[in-house]
Amino acid sequence: MAFPPAFIDELVARNPIEDVVGQYVSLKRSGSNLFGLCPFHGEKTASFSVAPEKGIYYCFGCHKGGSVINFQMEIEGLSYPDAVRALAKRAGMEVPEDEQYQSRYRQQERLWALHKEAARFYHAQLYAPVGAAALQYAAGRGMPQAVLTKFGIGYAPDSWTDLVDVLRKKGYTDQELRDSGLVTVAKKTGNLFDRFRDRLMFPIIDVRGNVIGFGGRIMKKDDNAAKYLNSPETLIFNKRKNLFALNLAKKSKMGYLILVEGYMDAIALHQYGFDCAVASLGTALTEDGANLLSRYTEQVVLIYDGDNAGQNATKRAIPILEKAGLQVKVLQMRDAKDPDEFLKKFGADRFKLLLEESSNRVEYQLSAIFKKYDLKDDDQKVKYLQESAELISSLPSAVQREVYGGRVAEAAKIGPDAMKLEVERARKRRLAREKKAQEKIDLAPARALQPKSRSIRYDNMKSAMAEEMLLALCLREPALLDRAAVLTEEMFSSPLLGSVYTQLSRRHRAGLEVSLSGLEDLSPEEMSHVAGILQRQQGPVSDQALDDCIRTIQREYKAGSVETAEDLMALREAMQKRKGIGQ
Ligand code: CTP
Ligand code: MN
Repeated sequence: MAFPPAFIDELVARNPIEDVVGQYVSLKRSGSNLFGLCPFHGEKTASFSVAPEKGIYYCFGCHKGGSVINFQMEIEGLSYPDAVRALAKRAGMEVPEDEQYQSRYRQQERLWALHKEAARFYHAQLYAPVGAAALQYAAGRGMPQAVLTKFGIGYAPDSWTDLVDVLRKKGYTDQELRDSGLVTVAKKTGNLFDRFRDRLMFPIIDVRGNVIGFGGRIMKKDDNAAKYLNSPETLIFNKRKNLFALNLAKKSKMGYLILVEGYMDAIALHQYGFDCAVASLGTALTEDGANLLSRYTEQVVLIYDGDNAGQNATKRAIPILEKAGLQVKVLQMRDAKDPDEFLKKFGADRFKLLLEESSNRVEYQLSAIFKKYDLKDDDQKVKYLQESAELISSLPSAVQREVYGGRVAEAAKIGPDAMKLEVERARKRRLAREKKAQEKIDLAPARALQPKSRSIRYDNMKSAMAEEMLLALCLREPALLDRAAVLTEEMFSSPLLGSVYTQLSRRHRAGLEVSLSGLEDLSPEEMSHVAGILQRQQGPVSDQALDDCIRTIQREYKAGSVETAEDLMALREAMQKRKGIGQ
């Protein structure tokens, strides 16, 4: 039987591939991948890779690969539905085997689509005449248009039923409107009215990219109305289990997440380059929230407001975060009441200083190493210096390496130059290691360019390479699918890649997770092949890279396509002529 797509998405989200594979294979991290000995063929060096961010595994040796579901099937020899059932059990989820659950997921899908419509509506209002004051308010708070677009910020007009009317016109039933929480119901008449009126609207988006609710801020000071009004709890919105901006922050490369109190704080942080900021949704941080964070990072920097309430909230949040296995740092807000105000007053550089003061993992780790050794013993002193040099060599900035190297040298009473030499040596070793790991990945495509299996052989290598790259880019950054929409399935030289492209586009448009686990009707070989593509293409994601692929595919398609009988005739004639010349 077919499971609802939204259920499969959730199943995959709740079964991180590195955890599931980790039950069978011992994995070691190397960059953004984990490597281990392949469980599917005998080997002595690790060529089996897991990419947590992409949600796939792939063996560079035997070319098996796929999503977490494929892994479960392969390793336990299960059918697809049985693998799904096993993973559901592992994550404590109920399997939608019957009509009731199926309809629940369908209902969710409708509500996601409804929220997307609502977000579009609010966003458009911001630029309509009715939104002039809201646009001005946003500008006054220092939000440029790029930020309004990035966060999908909008305006709920001061009207009774504008949103209700729009949604009805789009075919949503009154029951669905009530379920969405975006309307209020008049007690006597039962009539529906817009819940949010005359507010600046912040869409709340879950980690899969679905709009699940809104926060609305009042724009004029009014002591009788709440400053913020949030969506009520619904089938798709749970305040305690979601965090604002996590959909963006989960892609951050900063290596930690920043947790703040307010929407505006999170937005300002992103705006000033701290793309790892998230905010709780008008409630104190809960265990669910902490567990959610721990799926994306190991370290959290807490930045709550400088007032008493903020400090108390900090005290309460620390043990909750630590219980979820997170390393916690606290940034003490100074000279401003919150990060939003601080950034606008003092700018990003000064904020960075605050951040470095508070979240200095190096200092923390160095002191841990220091405690391990007795520096009066020469032997131990050498070990202390070596271990510290190893840690310091991982710092990207030369200034940092110099400063910390100097401190360690001083502690051990040796000259700073000797320490510097030790750090540089450790750094060379580290860079060589990283280069080797990358080469291993870079070399793989040359060997595996032409698919092994017949059904997936490429007819047009040039186009196929562009098609591979394009799919890899879109799987890593689904928003690129909008840009790639000029392509149609038949432009792909490889039927397999064309069908994958169509399926991904369809999922993207429906607001579903764009990932391998959503692909249907692929044989294990085909799935492995697609996982291999995704794992080999490691280049940077950019519009430019995508456009290059699109152009190549279009060019090869035009060059190779024979569309009409006349074309065919012309082609035949041309070939005969060429033959004639040759004779
Ligand atoms: N909040 C809420 N309801 C309120 C007040 C606050 O839900 N009546 C939540 C919102 O999520 C808000 C957060 O608590 O973002 C922090 O509140 P506050 O510090 O008052 O707001 P700021 O984000 O600083 O708001 P602004 O800068 O827009 O005044
Ligand atoms: Mn504020």
